[in-house]
Amino acid sequence: MPIATHIAQALCAALEYAPERAEEVARMLTAPPGLAMGDFAFPCFQLARALRAPPPKIAADLAARLQADALVAKAVAQGPYVNFFLQRPEAARRVLAAVLADPQGPGRRDLGGGQVVVLDFSAPNIAKPFHFGHLRSTNLGADLARIFAFLGYRVVRRNYIGDWGTQFGFVIYAWQKWGEIALLRERAIDYLVELYVRAYRESETDPGVREQARLLFLRLEQGDPEITSLWQQFRELSLAGFMKTYQRLGISFDSYAGEAAVNPLVEATIERFLRAGVAEQSQGALVVQVSAVIGREIAPLMLRKSDGASTYAARDCAEALDRWQRYGFAANIYVVSRQEDHFAQVFAALTRLAEAEGWEHRWPAHCENVSFGYVRGMSTRKGEAVWLEAVLDEARDRARRIREEKSAANPRAFPALGNGELDAVSEAVGQAALLYFDVSARRLSDVTFDWDTVLQFEGNTGPYLQYSHARMCGIFRRAAAQGLAAPDATVPEMPASLADEEWSLLLALRGFGPAVERAATLREPHEVARYLHELASAYNVFYNNCTVIDPADPLTTRARLALVAACRAVLATGLGLLGIQPLETM
Ligand code: ARG
Repeated sequence: MPIATHIAQALCAALEYAPERAEEVARMLTAPPGLAMGDFAFPCFQLARALRAPPPKIAADLAARLQADALVAKAVAQGPYVNFFLQRPEAARRVLAAVLADPQGPGRRDLGGGQVVVLDFSAPNIAKPFHFGHLRSTNLGADLARIFAFLGYRVVRRNYIGDWGTQFGFVIYAWQKWGEIALLRERAIDYLVELYVRAYRESETDPGVREQARLLFLRLEQGDPEITSLWQQFRELSLAGFMKTYQRLGISFDSYAGEAAVNPLVEATIERFLRAGVAEQSQGALVVQVSAVIGREIAPLMLRKSDGASTYAARDCAEALDRWQRYGFAANIYVVSRQEDHFAQVFAALTRLAEAEGWEHRWPAHCENVSFGYVRGMSTRKGEAVWLEAVLDEARDRARRIREEKSAANPRAFPALGNGELDAVSEAVGQAALLYFDVSARRLSDVTFDWDTVLQFEGNTGPYLQYSHARMCGIFRRAAAQGLAAPDATVPEMPASLADEEWSLLLALRGFGPAVERAATLREPHEVARYLHELASAYNVFYNNCTVIDPADPLTTRARLALVAACRAVLATGLGLLGIQPLETM
């Protein structure tokens, strides 16, 4: 039973509440400002009216009625609060048991009961660079996918590749004008992007280019075999390039079906909007008015342009309808930045459609856009056309250099690594620096990237967490070298008293489950990152103040090794949720 529930039950008895109210009372418990004031606090303000007494009087009465037990050492009134001091050894035993003895591993819970969450993330555009901005969507989306799966949801990972649209007109125009097959074979997607940029530049001075590109795209939409086969080749080449990056990051998707794949459904979807009477003609185009649904003045959603071409918005409507039919999702989440208006229009148009068709189920309310802020300051030595692959390379190379410098300066703490190991560590640390950076702040805040900061082994960084993990593993290596048994799922006997640093760390361990849940509810992986940073900080205070392995005191040694094992398990699990590799040596 959670410690808070135990305390809440005692409070219910003292308050003469029905035992069913324990959960409600447990939610009222808070943490006192410091350990000297206890481990849990029960505020009495809310009771003042019902009990017709001032809160300090209520607190004093309650404290007098509460009795010490195996878990609670004492309950003391302090102003309007009742503060609970726990029996540290007993509480420690329970916290460690919850982490170490749970066969599922720490924090895992079945909240989802198999409900489906669709996550639409990454979604780079073919023939445009896999831009650094896509890393944030890729990363946040993959984190959310792991977090929801961890909480018992069935997750569908959708990479809705941008493989349709007028940009293809430009690429095909350029290909027909300048394309060389040898260069395409050699440089693949780099070459396609170059062609796209070249055509796009030309169109800025010669408006005729845009018109030709538009006509080429129309031919593609009409299924012209020659254009279609070109498009197919370009798509495959680009996808192969993206796949390398995903593999490197250890991310995979359930489907890479992009905008082109939903195309065959678009006509029927437009028909449906027309039949329901929610689409209307406007200056030759076909639109859905959405201002009334959204509650502010906003342009209508365009289903079809005046030249007959379908739109990005029409495709997203068709795709969302298809997803709902396929999965009946509890949530359909688009991890995409700076398209707030687009998604507001799509969801509103679908709401109108659902209403007009007389649907009971207002499923469009399950669709949401999880947006995020802008990353400033990213550039690589190759210049500012920022390819993700180049960013990953640079992170790895910088991590390698830092590791080499550390081992030159302090070979005892950082023994030289063999070549293979140095490669693996550099890649993992480089990725940790980048991936953690994305979640080191709330997703909506704009962040400024700085190579030196993100690679630090101290501070709010990924490498700091990896380093903390490696140091925990180091303790087990030292213990093994001294013939001590590695801690396992059994919780050892606790010493009669626990140091404050040790106790704070134990209390911090309890925060993991709630942090993961908050991350899911708020669609905010930062909650996990922030928690792990707090845990690692509490750990480092403990590590600097408490001797773990003390041959003169085997009882304390066993207890502390178990505490380190619990921290390591939580840290490794949390890092895993963020796609960061917990390293054993660094
Ligand atoms: N390819 C788009 C872009 O890079 C993102 C697509 C997001 N997903 C969606 N269903 N619209 O801007």
